Amino acid sequence: MQAIIWIFFLLLIILSLSIVWFSWHYGISPMPTSKKVKKILLQELPPHYEGIIYELGSGWGTLAFPLAKKYPQATVVGYEISWLPFLFSIIRLFFCPQKNLIFRRRDFFKENLSYAHFVICYLYPKAMRQLEFKLEKEAPENTLVVSHTFAFRTIKPIKKIVVEDLYRTSIYYYLIK
Ligand SMILES: C[S@@+](CC[C@H](N)C(=O)[O-])C[C@H]1O[C@@H](n2cnc3c(N)ncnc32)[C@H](O)[C@@H]1O
Repeated sequence: MQAIIWIFFLLLIILSLSIVWFSWHYGISPMPTSKKVKKILLQELPPHYEGIIYELGSGWGTLAFPLAKKYPQATVVGYEISWLPFLFSIIRLFFCPQKNLIFRRRDFFKENLSYAHFVICYLYPKAMRQLEFKLEKEAPENTLVVSHTFAFRTIKPIKKIVVEDLYRTSIYYYLIK
C-alpha cells in the first residue's frame, strides 16, 4: 500500500515538474482563458459552423469543451504539448464525453494546418509571429482565426473586442487571405 502511495506522489511530482519544463521550453504556461473572456469570445463567434476547428494550445480544455458544445456539427481538435493539461483534458473527456472533440499531444507547429478553416488560440508574442507565417503559407483562404490577448504582427483584424476585465483583454478576429 505504501509503495502505491509513493508511486502516486512521485507521478504527481513528475507531472508538476513537467508543467515547469514545458512552460519554460514553449514560452507559455497552461494559463486558462478567464470566464469573462471565454463568454465574450464564444458569443462573438459565428452561430453555425461545420468542419474542423483547431484549438492551438488547448491547455486544460477551457475553450475546447464549450466550442465542441457550441458547434455539434463540427470537429474540434485541441493540440496541447504539455503532459498534465493534456492528461487532464483526456480524463475530462472521458467523464464528460463529447463526440466531436479530440485532443492531440503534439506541437502544432509541426502539424500541417492546411485543413484549418477555423482556428482559436491564446498563445504568446513569439508563437503568434510564427503562427502568422505558418497560416499564411498553409491555411486555406478565408480561414477564421480568433486569438485573445496577443495579436498578429502584420495581418489586420477584421474585428477587435476589448473585454471590460482587469487587463482590458483584447480579442482579435482575423481572416487569412
Ligand atoms: C495560455 S495557454 C491557453 C490554454 C487554452 N487555450 C485556454 O485558452 O484556456 C497556452 C497553451 O498552449 C500550449 N502550447 C504552447 N506552444 C505549443 C505548441 N507548439 N504545441 C502545442 N501546444 C502548445 C501550452 O502548453 C499551453 O497549455
